Amino acid sequence: MRETETTPRRSIAFIGSECYPFVKTGGLGDVMYALPKALAEQNCDVKVIVPLYRCIPQEYKEKMVYRGSFGMDLCSDGRSFHVGIMEYVWDGVVYDFIDNEEFFSAGNPYISLVDDIPKYCYFSKAALAALLYMDWIPDIIHCHDWQAGLVPIFLRTLFADTPLRDAKSVLTIHNLRFQGIYNIPTIKYWTNLPDEVFSIDVLKTGVEDANMLKGGLAYADVITTVSETYAEEIKTPFYGDGLDAHLRHHAYKLRGIVNGIDVVQWDPETDNRLAENYDEKTVLKNKKANKKALQEELGLEVDDGKFVIGLISRLTNQKGLDLVNMILPGLIDGNTQVALLGTGDGYYEDSFRGFENEFKGSVCSCIMYDEGRAHRIYAGSDALLVPSLFEPCGLTQLIAMRYGTVPIVRETGGLKDTVEPYNEFENTGNGFTFDGYDAGLLYDAINRAKTVYFTDRERWDDMVKRDLAKDVSWEASAEKYKNLYLELKPEY
Ligand code: ADP
Ligand code: GLC
Repeated sequence: MRETETTPRRSIAFIGSECYPFVKTGGLGDVMYALPKALAEQNCDVKVIVPLYRCIPQEYKEKMVYRGSFGMDLCSDGRSFHVGIMEYVWDGVVYDFIDNEEFFSAGNPYISLVDDIPKYCYFSKAALAALLYMDWIPDIIHCHDWQAGLVPIFLRTLFADTPLRDAKSVLTIHNLRFQGIYNIPTIKYWTNLPDEVFSIDVLKTGVEDANMLKGGLAYADVITTVSETYAEEIKTPFYGDGLDAHLRHHAYKLRGIVNGIDVVQWDPETDNRLAENYDEKTVLKNKKANKKALQEELGLEVDDGKFVIGLISRLTNQKGLDLVNMILPGLIDGNTQVALLGTGDGYYEDSFRGFENEFKGSVCSCIMYDEGRAHRIYAGSDALLVPSLFEPCGLTQLIAMRYGTVPIVRETGGLKDTVEPYNEFENTGNGFTFDGYDAGLLYDAINRAKTVYFTDRERWDDMVKRDLAKDVSWEASAEKYKNLYLELKPEY
């Protein structure tokens, strides 16, 4: 039994804009699902508060129960809005969905800032108002990314005279690239927050803008981010996205806790989306069967001797795709195949479609979002590429290792903290790494991987088994969060 399972019970409200399996566009959705579940196992009482977007599948909506509704003042001209609460309890975690058709009726969570700014101003306040309405006063209010950035500010201003005043706030940065910046009059209108929080040390940025993440960072009791390396990186101008000075100023309350993955959701032994399940004893044989099934599914030449590289990613420049574009033609040598799954910027979607046409049978570019196919690429590939420009944590390299697939990553953020480089002298390590953001270095790392794969299969297979056995679960990191909550709320 872990120590934290017997530590005092703490209650935590998670507030964020997405949560698997209801709605997910990236790793934030995974974390909002897996971390509360892991905390529930460590004597925590967790409520997850997310918007009730229209795109949430009917099968979940059907299981929700009506928890109540009320009107909430929001805007500076007194305009008020309806807040409905729909509840779903699952695996020891309570999910409360904030219902408002005006804000959440679009197909996707994120549309454009014009829509998203009012939506998340509303959501941040409605989440706190819902807690009060339900009379559920948590020890900790744990907010995620800019969409919940205003929560710590609302908590200490418009909610300062409510029972919520005793709660401590934690704000986790999953990605500093997105900050929720808009002109001050608009954000003033949609929040009715007092003038003092529009000062340069809180919300104000530049000449006349407000930055919702920046303000939250100033007001949160603790700031966390999703790996230790990223916690250091964001204090520098290159990774700080304009907030490095602000983060250096608040460095005393900033810490990094690396993400894990849900090892039940991601389990090659039970995953019903795979052609063959496997564990450490059957991995070498059954990964081949999955590779062949994947090649068939994707229209790649079916041959288990080929080196298959997977790439599962949002298609944005964060993910190092410019490097991939530069070297991909050079990789295709008759023995190497690439399976890409992703959606995003049209520029990358087109370039990958182009590679598929040029290298039919060796490159497949699936420009789509498909959970099932993601599982099959993780299982059927030999290696998974994550050459990111920056990567707060990264989950795909963790999932890859869980499936015995060797990650090839750039040494940045969580990639650096989770992938130990292969050491040929000691036969240790989990993957292949490179440091500078440089196409030549990426090319070299892939070639080092290929050399081991084609000339020293025994060593390669050892690494596959090491990866499969590596602990990538949430357990250790959930314990760190629990200890953080206890530190913030020591008295019982
Ligand atoms: P980020 O949050 O920056 O997008 P992460 O590595 O933290 O990156 O998480 C990405 C998550 O999204 C993983 O669970 C990955 O499997 C999933 N994912 C990304 N693109 C797709 C896609 N096109 N289809 C299915 N799953 C995807
Ligand atoms: C962000 C980051 C990613 C991280 C995820 C979950 O989307 O880009 O690196 O793994 O959040 O924390």
